[in-house]
Amino acid sequence: MTATIRTVGIVGAGQMGSGIAHVAALAGYRVELYDISPERIEAGIATVSGNMARQVSSGKLEERARQEALGRIAPARALNDLADADLVIEAATEDETIKRKIFAQLCPILNPEALLATNTSSISITRLAAQTDRPERFIGIHFMNPVPVMKLVELIRGIATEDKTFETARAFVQSLDKTITVAEDFPAFIVNRILLPMINEAIYTLYEGVGSVEAIDTAMRLGANHPMGPLQLADFIGLDTCLSIMQVLYEGLADSKYRPCPLLVKYVEAGWLGRKTGRGFYDYREDPPVPTR
Ligand code: CAA
Repeated sequence: MTATIRTVGIVGAGQMGSGIAHVAALAGYRVELYDISPERIEAGIATVSGNMARQVSSGKLEERARQEALGRIAPARALNDLADADLVIEAATEDETIKRKIFAQLCPILNPEALLATNTSSISITRLAAQTDRPERFIGIHFMNPVPVMKLVELIRGIATEDKTFETARAFVQSLDKTITVAEDFPAFIVNRILLPMINEAIYTLYEGVGSVEAIDTAMRLGANHPMGPLQLADFIGLDTCLSIMQVLYEGLADSKYRPCPLLVKYVEAGWLGRKTGRGFYDYREDPPVPTR
């Protein structure tokens, strides 16, 4: 734990928010987990419990440590419950309007000294910070999915982020046993600036009929040693998130090379968002999942 942060508020109990709750609770922080309904919070805590159980069964975690960590996660029934947090991490949907609304509700509640962070995977930290009452105590802390497994966290300063905020955020991330990479505040930062155009290109490769879903994923798994094929990874990230990131790149860098593939748009319009909705480039209602094209 760090000296200045003891209680971490997390807004959003989805795959990223629950993953952040998981690693923060294991590192000894008290976690307050908020989402728009009690059911979502309960589902998030159940995910943490299940993923910690995986770590116990593979010998990475003691059952007692799991129980203690779970005991440190409290459901926040209202945003007001985050009033005592030293750091709040917003991990809501990748939609600027939603994030802005959350910050507008949250800022008057928070302790004036509290740090505010966003786990956005692409949106300008400077612009988000400018919507808050504390741009100097605002920072991007970008975790990778699945949070308990992935070693990297990107740290991104906005134009107004103070050194003290950066150093506190750095100490917090290091206390989670993660490796930091510092990125400048440009659309999609480092990981997604490189990863998402590759995924988008894989979708174009499918769209143009160069290969089937299976051919493309096998090619990249075995031909480039990627742990998942790009279409499998797209489903894992969520196709709505992939599309949002491509739109941020396309609009933010004003370069046609980032044009989202029309097939990605079509899947999102169909509500086939990948694993979380049961269908994307694969149909997860079958075991093993079956390609949908
Ligand atoms: N929580 C805890 N442990 C987990 C877990 C989770 N959510 N998911 C997997 N694990 C553990 C498993 O229990 C297993 O542990 P042991 O080795 O101790 O048994 C280990 O991780 C490997 O998992 P699996 O055997 O189930 O499967 P795998 O070997 O195929 O690995 C994977 C799964 C780690 C997800 C791997 O496929 C992988 O690394 N995929 C690529 C992930 C990736 O690229 N993530 C970045 C996405 S981009 C992003 O996140 C940024 C963004 O903003 C969009």
